[in-house]
This record gives sequence, C-alpha cells and structure tokens, in this order.
Amino acid sequence: MIITRNIKELHKVLFGKKKLKNTVGFVPTMGALHAGHLSLIKFASSENDITVVSIFVNPTQFNSKKDLKKYPRDEEKDLEKLKNINCDIVFIPEVEEMYPKDDNRIFDFQGLDNVMEGKYRNGHFNGVAQIVSTLFEIVNPDKAYFGKKDFQQVAIIKYLNENYLKDLNIEVVACDIIREEDGLAMSSRNMLLNKEQRSEASLISKTMFFYCNSYKKYSVAGLKSKIISEINSNTHLEVEYFDIVDNKTLQSVPDIIPEKTTACIAVYAGIIRLIDNFSFN
Ligand code: PAF
Repeated sequence: MIITRNIKELHKVLFGKKKLKNTVGFVPTMGALHAGHLSLIKFASSENDITVVSIFVNPTQFNSKKDLKKYPRDEEKDLEKLKNINCDIVFIPEVEEMYPKDDNRIFDFQGLDNVMEGKYRNGHFNGVAQIVSTLFEIVNPDKAYFGKKDFQQVAIIKYLNENYLKDLNIEVVACDIIREEDGLAMSSRNMLLNKEQRSEASLISKTMFFYCNSYKKYSVAGLKSKIISEINSNTHLEVEYFDIVDNKTLQSVPDIIPEKTTACIAVYAGIIRLIDNFSFN
C-alpha cells in the first residue's frame, strides 16, 4: 500500500497505473474508518484494478469550529485497517496541500442544499462540493464511492458531478448503509457517544423503521409526529429534523410513494449529531 501526502507524488503513482489502463476506484473519507468505510473500499476494489482512499478532515464543510476540533482522528489505526484490505493508495494531505489559498467557489445546487442538513448546517454542502471537486480533479477516478447514510450528500455529489464535473467522466456509486448489530447506522461520530447515549442511539433506526414500515396506517404528518415524539421521549435523544422527501428534489412530500420517497432524520445524542434514513422502497 502506497501512502502519499502530496498531490505531485500521487499523480506520479497514478500516471503509471493509468498508463497500464488500470481502472481506478476512489473512496473519499474523513478518516476514523469503520466497517461502513471498509465495505465501500472492498466494493471499490471488487470493481476496479486500483483503489485509492483519501483521508482528509475537510475544514470548509464544518460550520462550527468546535465540531471540526472534536471530529475523531486516528491515522495510525486507519492505516492499520487499510493495510488489511485491498487498498492500493492512501492519500493523506494536510490542509495547506488541499487549500494553498482560500477556496471562494460557490456552487448552485438548485435548492437541493436548502433543506435538511443544508438548513441546519449552513454552508456544509458548499464545503463538501469544494473538497469533492478538488479530489475528483486530482484523482480523476473511473468510479467514486459514497455511503447512502449521507442521503442528501449523495444527491448533491451526483448533481455536482453531472453539472460541474461532467468532463471528468466519473461514475458516482452510492452504496447501502452498513449498520451495527442493534441497527445504529455506522458513523465515525458513534465513537464519541458515551455508554448511555450509545445505548439510546439504537432507538433512532428502530423507531424510524418500526413506524415507516407501517406507514399506510398514518398520514405523513401523523407519521412524522409519532416518530419525533417517540425518539424525543428518550433521555439523551433530541430530534433536529425528521422529514419525508422526494428522492430527486429532496423536498417534503404530502404522500408516500415508496419508490420515490425517503425518510431522513438528524438526532442529537447529547452533543453528538447523528443522521440516518429509511428508503420506503
Ligand atoms: O462523507 C464524508 O466523509 C465527507 O463529507 C467527504 C465526502 C469525504 C468529503 O469530505
């Protein structure tokens, strides 16, 4: 496994591989790798000759300095995990490498970023687009892999790819959510939960799945209020938003059409913010 921290070196390695007509799969991450990331990497390596993983905690997508500071980082453990699976190249740049000067690009996502995560995390998706577009340009893979836990992020990255980065010819692949045994969606933030918060956090998916699976019994408003009040009845959990949205526009829907609709939730467990979603399909 090749570990590189600078763009020039990465280009040198990739140039050799691409000359041999190797296909490149790319998994961008912010590190603190868990089984969800590893499943993306394994899937990427099953579909490509070369797998590149980036580890970079991108400051421009955090709208709170405190959140950026407390984001979990463990390079040593991450590298250990990557060595044990089919990762060929790890790119671990410093902030100065990715942002030699301020990035003032503003992306227009036609309203996809005004709801849910975008509403509560001002500027978050513009920061995601800055780093993803820069990484796509640097790595220029055949395919890039993202987890469906970040449902809105996947929609926005697909939009970015199709509308801003079309010439790169990259296929964005969305992969299923990987869950802990008790149903909690895997996330780097889970390791920040204390014992009580971790135990209640499993009720997020359990409650959402329970009611969403019997959505026909409720109106959309009824379903929303049941899920929010039941999750909020736990000591450590507080719902920030729960919405049922159209898969394409991400706007709230009045009725559930299973193949076109997803339920999305963000919940605070103490000060740790967790997200999840349920596809009615
Ligand atoms: O999902 C993430 O971990 C990040 O948002 C990403 C896509 C790596 C960009 O920093």
